[in-house]
Amino acid sequence: MSRARLLLLAAGVALLGCKATPPGPLERAVASQVKRRLTVRGRSDRNPLEPSPENLRRGQRAFGNYCTVCHGLDGRATGVPFAEAMAPPIPSLGSPEVQAYSDGQLHWVIENGIFPSGMPASRGILGDEEMWGIVLFIRHLPPTGSLGEPPVYGGGPPSPQALGGGRVP
Ligand code: HEC
Repeated sequence: MSRARLLLLAAGVALLGCKATPPGPLERAVASQVKRRLTVRGRSDRNPLEPSPENLRRGQRAFGNYCTVCHGLDGRATGVPFAEAMAPPIPSLGSPEVQAYSDGQLHWVIENGIFPSGMPASRGILGDEEMWGIVLFIRHLPPTGSLGEPPVYGGGPPSPQALGGGRVP
């Protein structure tokens, strides 16, 4: 679909959306396309970090500090009780939709968040290298459930694995 047609469709759906009903499948599909094609930028930005074990561990550690309360230790929302209750729900970062973003777009999402969903912006909280490290981690997520539940939801203390191998540089 061309940009212009997408915008037109988005405008049409926005008008239809004036009824106070929850978004239907068409509205959700259009909102998702608008987000992926128009809102989220940075498509051609390259990750300056090599996917070395050390960089991956750092990325996982930064993820563990700032993202696991909503995305789980495995990035797949394992053990996050309200994941489905958010609007839109918290996606698995291993899903084909999220993995279809380029590295630069993932970095953009982390830096700017997705307004007006519950996905917060990390600008001013995380450094650029931490954000690129997290992008590496998102590309190498552990298997679903393999790290247990975030301790904050009663899953016990985090394993050394969940903390990026337990080594501090
Ligand atoms: C307060 C809860 C919360 C926190 C903390 C959070 N997220 Fe999210 N995240 C969400 C929600 C809700 C969505 C779904 C947003 C949407 O689909 O528009 C999301 C979506 C995403 C997506 C997919 C975006 C898309 O368009 O499909 C990525 C990637 C992501 N988050 C990464 C992160 C990273 C990395 C961190 C830590 C720096 C983080 N999130 C912290 C709630 C959160």
